[in-house]
Amino acid sequence: MAAGISPPAIILGLLFILSLFSTSVSSAEAEENLLAFRSSLEDPTNALSGWSPAAGHVCNWTGVTCDPSSGRVASLVLRSLNLSGEISPSLCRLAGLSELNLAGNFFNQSIPLHLAQCTSLQALNLSNNLLWGTLPDQISQLRSLTSLDLSGNKLEGALPIGLGALDRLRVLNLGGNMFTGALHISIFGNLSDLVHIDISQNPSFSSELPPQLGNLKKLRKILMQSAGLRGGIPQSFVGLGELEILDLSRNNLSGKIPVGFGLRLAKLVYLDLSQNRLSGSFPGEICSGMVLAELNLHTNSFSGELPESMGSCSNLERLQLQNGGFSGEFPSGLWALSKMTVIRAENNRFSGEIPDYIRTASRLELVQIDNNSFSGRIPPGFGMISSLYRFSASMNGFYGELPENFCDSPAMSIISFSHNSLTGSIPSPRRCRKLVSLSLAGNHFTGEIPNSLTQLPVLTYLDLSDNNLSGEIPQGLQNLKLALLNVSFNQLSGEVPLPLISGLPASFLQGNPGLCGPGLANPCGAEEAQKRRNLSLTYALISIAFAGGVILVAAALYVKNQSLRRKARRAHSASWKSVLYYPLRITEDDLLMRFNESNCVGRGAFGEVYAIRLPGGEVVAAKKLIYPTNLSMRSLKTEIKTLAKARHKNLTKLLGFCYSEGIVVLIYESLPKGSLGDAISRSGFSMEWPTRLRIAMGAAQALSYLHEHYVPTLLHRNVKSRNVLLDVDYEPKLTDFGLDRVLGESSYGSSMASELGSRCYLAPECGYSKKATEKMDVYSFGVLLLELVTGRPAEQPEPRDSLDVVRWVRRRINTDNRFQILDQKISGTALPSISGALDLALRCTAVSPEKRPTMLEVLRSLQSLESAADPPPVLSADTSYSGNP
Ligand SMILES: *[C@@H]1O[C@H](CO)[C@@H](O)[C@H](O)[C@H]1NC(C)=O
Ligand SMILES: *[C@@H]1O[C@H](CO)[C@@H](O)[C@H](O)[C@H]1NC(C)=O
Ligand SMILES: *[C@@H]1O[C@H](CO)[C@@H](O)[C@H](O)[C@H]1NC(C)=O
Ligand SMILES: *[C@@H]1O[C@H](CO)[C@@H](O)[C@H](O)[C@H]1NC(C)=O
Ligand SMILES: *[C@@H]1O[C@H](CO)[C@@H](O)[C@H](O)[C@H]1NC(C)=O
Ligand SMILES: *[C@@H]1O[C@H](CO)[C@@H](O)[C@H](O)[C@H]1NC(C)=O
Ligand SMILES: *[C@@H]1O[C@H](CO)[C@@H](O)[C@H](O)[C@H]1NC(C)=O
Ligand SMILES: *[C@@H]1O[C@H](CO)[C@@H](O)[C@H](O)[C@H]1NC(C)=O
Ligand SMILES: *[C@@H]1O[C@H](CO)[C@@H](O)[C@H](O)[C@H]1NC(C)=O
Repeated sequence: MAAGISPPAIILGLLFILSLFSTSVSSAEAEENLLAFRSSLEDPTNALSGWSPAAGHVCNWTGVTCDPSSGRVASLVLRSLNLSGEISPSLCRLAGLSELNLAGNFFNQSIPLHLAQCTSLQALNLSNNLLWGTLPDQISQLRSLTSLDLSGNKLEGALPIGLGALDRLRVLNLGGNMFTGALHISIFGNLSDLVHIDISQNPSFSSELPPQLGNLKKLRKILMQSAGLRGGIPQSFVGLGELEILDLSRNNLSGKIPVGFGLRLAKLVYLDLSQNRLSGSFPGEICSGMVLAELNLHTNSFSGELPESMGSCSNLERLQLQNGGFSGEFPSGLWALSKMTVIRAENNRFSGEIPDYIRTASRLELVQIDNNSFSGRIPPGFGMISSLYRFSASMNGFYGELPENFCDSPAMSIISFSHNSLTGSIPSPRRCRKLVSLSLAGNHFTGEIPNSLTQLPVLTYLDLSDNNLSGEIPQGLQNLKLALLNVSFNQLSGEVPLPLISGLPASFLQGNPGLCGPGLANPCGAEEAQKRRNLSLTYALISIAFAGGVILVAAALYVKNQSLRRKARRAHSASWKSVLYYPLRITEDDLLMRFNESNCVGRGAFGEVYAIRLPGGEVVAAKKLIYPTNLSMRSLKTEIKTLAKARHKNLTKLLGFCYSEGIVVLIYESLPKGSLGDAISRSGFSMEWPTRLRIAMGAAQALSYLHEHYVPTLLHRNVKSRNVLLDVDYEPKLTDFGLDRVLGESSYGSSMASELGSRCYLAPECGYSKKATEKMDVYSFGVLLLELVTGRPAEQPEPRDSLDVVRWVRRRINTDNRFQILDQKISGTALPSISGALDLALRCTAVSPEKRPTMLEVLRSLQSLESAADPPPVLSADTSYSGNP
């Protein structure tokens, strides 16, 4: 039996058993070392809770990978697990560990010297931690390293010479630290395998570029932006034939770009030399390899021309040359590159014309060539690029007429041709419904301001100043939400629409002797003035008649009231009927008897509101509506019932209603603290931000309930701070919702139109859109939020033409420090949250409805602001457990 087994087989068998034994020994060791490592960690999320002998073999532990042939731990990858604590030396006892990645944790220590003992490491990644101190020279002992990533830490001091000994390195990333000193020549001499080097965002470096870098022929990526570099770009860089990405931007490099640079770097895809002090002219060919996609040379001190051959860089997508110091003919081929999306060349001295074949650059999105010496006519070809959203070419020498299609790109949002020599009339914009800004100032345009400008729904800046335009200012401009209108120094005439004189837009009208209107030098011609005098006489007569009328009406009311009382006393109010949804101890008589001046608490577009104390002591609010007699009682009841069934903690309850011919009285619950509008209008309004936020959230919840959850969907249609009532603990309740359903659209519309005090809550599209939408409520809510954020009432009662809150904010948002918009009384406390609410309010009040969020989205945003506004929990005496349970 045993004799049947040959000696070699026995030896093989023994070897097998031995090897099993040694694996298990190494496994036990590995387990011990890993557990030692873990014991020095803080692991707040229990990411490594599975690390225990009970969980099986170490090779199965989170983040651990073993070499399949040796069974030894080969890599430990514990990325972004919120780990902190100490990186313990036990790691380096894991013989065979070739990769260690602890990136994205919170290790707050200097780089441990003992890591130098991990001599088998090939990849070390400690990026994005809180490592501090210097990079120790002992790093040189990690001779096997091919990849070293220490980016995004707080390392400082000079780079150690020992780094130069890591001659197998392919990837070196030291970006985003605070290293100082110079890039030492001897470091880079030996790193001949280097493929990627990143030392960007180390502004404390102060170094020249070592010419030796040019010997590292395998380099494909050099990222050295913001790295304190000065001096010139070494000629040796021309030899980096594999280079794909070179970013040397935001340094202090000077001198010329090396000769042959473009020619020899045939694989270059991305070249960024912007924001330096490079000078001289551009050296010949730039994209001999035809792969260059992004060329960024802006903000330098170049001189001279760009090579005409640049026009054949057929893969170029983005070109930025602004503030570059260039002059001479702009390479005309650049206008025809089919992949080009961005051309920025402003503030140079380029000359040349825009060729009509610019239409072949069909992906162009942005062209900025302001402040150059371009000339010629604007070709129709540019109007055919449908992706173009900004074209600005102010301060050049363009002449001739603007092509009819100058604004045909459906994406177009900013056009500027100001300060050129364009002539002819301004063509009617046809398709550019997204145009926000149109600037044609300082040309020689003649003819009238095209009326079709008033059809551009989001036009906000319109500068036509300093031309030779004539005719009147189109009436329709007053319906746009313009922030700026400048028509000064033209030949315009006629009466200026009143809203353009008072309030927003900021109108600039001077230098048009023919324009007239109140407050202008010319208050309209002598004839006009006579007419006005007559008119004001009429006004005076009307007001006297009105005053007389009021007295009459009052008298009539008094008589009626008296007779009502008498009738009531005799219980003869038979024509009144009521429907109550809550058990109120109230009779029609009770109500009618209390409709008098002293109980009247408000007057709105739809009628008076009375606060009525019932015999039982409770107070209700009764809203008296004039009810169009052409509507049927039946539909009235149905609609009111629909409103009454809308139940939400942030909607006032409709308790019931009573009606007689032509009049409906809606009975609502009454709230003790009055309306938010009243509160804001009071001087010294100083509600805390968390309270304001709670009010906003309540209102948003109510609206989102009406829009999304209630069937049938209801619109509020009259959101304003005066319709936000406050409960004892400042819980808000919206009132006055859905009255359009009760009154019918036409009657509702005319009542709303008569309401002057809250115009600014109306979305701009209310003017022309037939159908009411949820987005109109969102707009009104945005205005309410602006009130909360600024602490300003939506409209100031006096003076009449002062700015409403929307205009007030819009005027400031682009010019002032935005913090001055926020209510100074609270902005010290929860700035990010308040500022976030301002952003949200701006989105809600976007001019175009489709840009506004839905109420549900609004609500989510507010909730996230709320968690941001929460003060950290404080353990106060009430909540601690030292006292009685
Ligand atoms: C590895 O872990 C998985 C579950 O996490 C378990 O199903 C498997 O049995 C384990 N394997 C070993 C060898 O421990
Ligand atoms: C990890 O830390 C980040 C930043 O402190 C924190 O936002 C995140 O919630 C933490 N993750 C876990 C799971 O605790
Ligand atoms: C890092 O640790 C030091 C003390 O060792 C501490 O002062 C510092 O605040 C910590 N840094 C961070 C970001 O936690
Ligand atoms: C280091 O780890 C981070 C996070 O996983 C990763 O983004 C980065 O690419 C790694 N660095 C290297 C050089 O692989
Ligand atoms: C570079 O390599 C040479 C020869 O291999 C060696 O003598 C020199 O010490 C190395 N430089 C550094 C900084 O390690
Ligand atoms: C750039 O270099 C010039 C001269 O070498 C120096 O005057 C200037 O201060 C430097 N600028 C920066 C930002 O380092
Ligand atoms: C126009 O560009 C020149 C440089 O070519 C610059 O010096 C000047 O300040 C620019 N003008 C304006 C108004 O930006
Ligand atoms: C309006 O146009 C005139 C003339 O071009 C100019 O002087 C003035 O500064 C412009 N005003 C604004 C606010 O743009
Ligand atoms: C404006 O037009 C008038 C005649 O309509 C002409 O006399 C004047 O020269 C023009 N001004 C400019 C600046 O084109």
